[in-house]
Amino acid sequence: MARSGKISVIGAGFYGSTTALRLAEYDIFETVVLTDVVEGKAEGLALDMNQSRWIEGFETKLVGQTTGMDGSGYEAISGSDIVVMTAGLPRKPGMSRMDLIETNAKIMRGVCENIAKHAPNCVVINVANPLDEMTALAQIVTKFPYNRVIGQAGMLDTARFSHFVAEALNVPVGSVTTLTLGSHGDTMVPVASACSVDGKPLSDLLSADQIEELVVRTRNGGAEIVALLKTGSAYYAPSAAAARMARAVHENSGKVMPVCAWVDGEYGLSGAYLGVEAEIGKEGIKKIVETPLTDSEKVLLVEAYEAVKAKQADVSAL
Ligand code: NAI
Ligand code: 2OP
Repeated sequence: MARSGKISVIGAGFYGSTTALRLAEYDIFETVVLTDVVEGKAEGLALDMNQSRWIEGFETKLVGQTTGMDGSGYEAISGSDIVVMTAGLPRKPGMSRMDLIETNAKIMRGVCENIAKHAPNCVVINVANPLDEMTALAQIVTKFPYNRVIGQAGMLDTARFSHFVAEALNVPVGSVTTLTLGSHGDTMVPVASACSVDGKPLSDLLSADQIEELVVRTRNGGAEIVALLKTGSAYYAPSAAAARMARAVHENSGKVMPVCAWVDGEYGLSGAYLGVEAEIGKEGIKKIVETPLTDSEKVLLVEAYEAVKAKQADVSAL
């Protein structure tokens, strides 16, 4: 496939910089723009990444750009087809994702006003936490159609679940299928009934208690890494998740992925951003796919919906 298009990554911290490099290494984009408010940070990282092109053999060019709170520098993202929004504070040990809400909402507002101004036709992939609320705020501020504002969480949580299952059974991770829906938080819904290894149901391979242990570890997957790192949160698996979503948009692939999307009647739920499976393409969400759930999983999904809907009701005031 020929290289084409421009994608921008806002925030050149750990999440943003690893995402930008993954996107560039796909070698499918013409340009990857990386921005940050810290003077010179994005330019320095982009220069360093560009110098890896000859070794790694990719031609995509990275452009680094410092942006100001006054909107200066945002011309660099103009014409982007996709913008990945990573700017925001990460958690520290003991913090919940919700502890970040006020600070990250201010950053989100400023950034999204500039996304709407300079890249009015793009698909926004938000990763900033708290994920479900910040994705809702991104849509409110950009005023983009719901399908063009998506959050990344389900791909990451599902990847974590798959890793834990592979480790528990000592099988290749590629043989494992898992799924998480709901929220990127306490009401995450790891869908054990959709999990299998080489087509065999997970419930045939592990006891209910063993599965529950993996479910709990998946739900706490982000906090486990925050506690180990002590400064900042995970970024290798998170950036892989966001980059794959961006790739599916760019290639208009129609791939079905667990993402944070606006529900409008699916599962009988409406009017909130929630973790569901969806077909991803040029327009962002092509279609939400209703995964068959057991009765108890359905109850958990409704609980997650009620929790995120209540929290999203207040985000426009932030
Ligand atoms: P980081 O602290 O390494 O990077 C954040 C970057 O944002 C910094 O370079 C900072 O200068 C920049 N920034 C702050 N305000 C800005 C603005 N107005 N415009 C442009 N850049 C700005 O943090 P990290 O690890 O990159 O995490 C970023 C966000 O991603 C956090 O909110 C974190 O909680 C979230 N996250 C979400 C995950 C998910 O699955 N959705 C997983 C991991 C992290
Ligand atoms: C994670 O799950 C902190 O949301 C981030 O790693």
